[in-house]
Amino acid sequence: MSRFIDIAALADIPPQGARVVRTPQGCVAVFRTADDRVFALDDRCPHKGGPLSEGIVHGASVTCPLHNWVFDMATGQAQGADSGAVATHAVRVEGGRILLDASAIRRVA
Ligand code: FES
Repeated sequence: MSRFIDIAALADIPPQGARVVRTPQGCVAVFRTADDRVFALDDRCPHKGGPLSEGIVHGASVTCPLHNWVFDMATGQAQGADSGAVATHAVRVEGGRILLDASAIRRVA
């Protein structure tokens, strides 16, 4: 069973905003939607590496700030004519805290 790590309070991320979690493997962007769902994706667009955490959140999708590719945050798949996918990580909210799958963080012990 995977372990989850408390990374922030839900209230720390504004609706339709994001927070970046730095990990040894690169940054993970944790997004909050307008209706308080939370998603975690690698903070690196598969097109040319744009920072998805600085993108626009709309519904359960995020638009890359560089060239406007749109990703479904639940699956990481690019939508429309664009092809590619960004890795997603398990994340959940419990008691107002955001818990991220520890395997997304995997600290070097
Ligand atoms: S880098 Fe994200 S769309 Fe080009």
